[in-house]
Amino acid sequence: MLQRLQKIIADAGITSRRKAEEMILRGRVMLNGETVTALGTKADPERDHIRVDGRLLRGGGGRVYILLNKPVGYVSTVSDPQRRPTVVSLLRGVRERVYPVGRLDYHSSGLILLTNDGELANFLMSSSSGVPRTYQVKLEGLPDSSDLKKLEEGIVLDGRRTAPCQIRPLAAREKPWYEITLVEGRYHQVRRMFEHIGQPVVKLKRVRIAFLTDHGLAPGRFRPLTPAEVERLTNWKGGQVGKVPRSLRLPSRS
Ligand code: URA
Repeated sequence: MLQRLQKIIADAGITSRRKAEEMILRGRVMLNGETVTALGTKADPERDHIRVDGRLLRGGGGRVYILLNKPVGYVSTVSDPQRRPTVVSLLRGVRERVYPVGRLDYHSSGLILLTNDGELANFLMSSSSGVPRTYQVKLEGLPDSSDLKKLEEGIVLDGRRTAPCQIRPLAAREKPWYEITLVEGRYHQVRRMFEHIGQPVVKLKRVRIAFLTDHGLAPGRFRPLTPAEVERLTNWKGGQVGKVPRSLRLPSRS
């Protein structure tokens, strides 16, 4: 899709749109080997070669990073042998092929990242990245605080101990809500952890990935990450679980 050069340069995280305009006017920008100085010049960020100060823009438009609030009833794969709706089908208007980073169960809702940047996806999915994910869960009944402490300290799943995590109560009802923050993402981990203490999860919603929250993102809606957010995720240093801001919001429905 054709876009103004200053927008492409700004989207690539090089500088602001206004400063990009100055760079163009000063002859610092080349489009397919030719210096351009006209501000209305348009280019296709996926096809055209754009250089700023001689440096080729990589991924300004080619790399795509999307934060989606997945509703219940969608699979977080690109296609499904059972022909259930996929998260990718929710991305109306996104032309690039993007892939979900990790999984959220069909019956779970909440935040999921999608990208065509394999390097960042692998980093985020690796256990060493230490990127915290926060889930709100509704349980079948009230768990013992000693059982919650066991989960926080780590339990053995599939012969391996889970990493320490944080759990806090949100709403004390007959079927209570809790918030749990994990730094790893094993298969059905949250559900299996609560099953381990005899408290099946009846609802599960991911409300935070690192510093990204679902604020302003209704179920089924998505938004691109800003270049600053991409940069922050790329440079994420492990072990920041203690710095996750405490959410004060309660789930809207029980
Ligand atoms: N843990 C689960 O059990 N399910 C999810 O969808 C995500 C984390």
